[in-house]
Amino acid sequence: MQIISKAQDLPPTELAFVPTMGALHAGHLHLIATARKHCPTVLVSIFVNPKQFAAGEDFASYPRPRDDDLHLLRQQRVDYVYLPQALDLFPTDFQTYVHNRAGSEMLCGLQRPNHFQGVLTVVLKLLLTVRPQLLVLGKKDYQQLVLIKRMLRDFSLPIAVIAATTQRYEDGLAYSSRNTYLTPAQRSQAPLLYQALRAAEKLFQQGERNSEQIIAAARNIIASSGFSTDYLEIRTQADLAPLASITAPSVLLVAARLGDTRLLDNIELG
Ligand code: PAF
Repeated sequence: MQIISKAQDLPPTELAFVPTMGALHAGHLHLIATARKHCPTVLVSIFVNPKQFAAGEDFASYPRPRDDDLHLLRQQRVDYVYLPQALDLFPTDFQTYVHNRAGSEMLCGLQRPNHFQGVLTVVLKLLLTVRPQLLVLGKKDYQQLVLIKRMLRDFSLPIAVIAATTQRYEDGLAYSSRNTYLTPAQRSQAPLLYQALRAAEKLFQQGERNSEQIIAAARNIIASSGFSTDYLEIRTQADLAPLASITAPSVLLVAARLGDTRLLDNIELG
């Protein structure tokens, strides 16, 4: 495995790219395995992007277990790991940002107004540097996935995207680098989020198509289990438009807090 810190040392071959912020877990390993299936060469970046954290969020405390991450990447036989320096990506006079106004002013964007601008900007910079043919992203950050796909389309970037399924612990909790923030008591509550989504999915599978009815099934479980809900909504898979009745492939998305820890999850319906 080669470690690269300068853009000019990046490989020229057919390449799958997995962008990460490190603190790697089974979800990331699944992204890497997916990339490997489709491309001979796999490059993973690790960069805790300051532009996607607001003041008061967890940028400083975000886990950075660099040695463990590199060890895991070596075990996965990743070909290249790109560890950009913050000043290389964002010099002090950096001015230009990518902003999808419609896509950022909903769901997670309501609580984190500049988050997706930071995500899209860093992903575009990474893509222009790495120049992959394939980008592998996880479905757990569904809004991020939809907005990045939209950016590629709007900017006519010839990069294919594979969306990999969310990886879960046996009890259903989705893997996330932020799970380490949960206290033992919160960790035992956390799987209820996915159980709530599954209850809603069951209703959908039984033929219910009214979004409010389906959401209510999940809301009852989430409300009774100590979460405070930021949003619980059904949106289209294609562009996250609201859907009163499920007439198109859709996704039930939730963001909810246990104490200070904000958990995201979702389940596709239809
Ligand atoms: O999902 C993430 O880990 C980050 O948002 C990403 C895509 C690596 C951009 O910093």
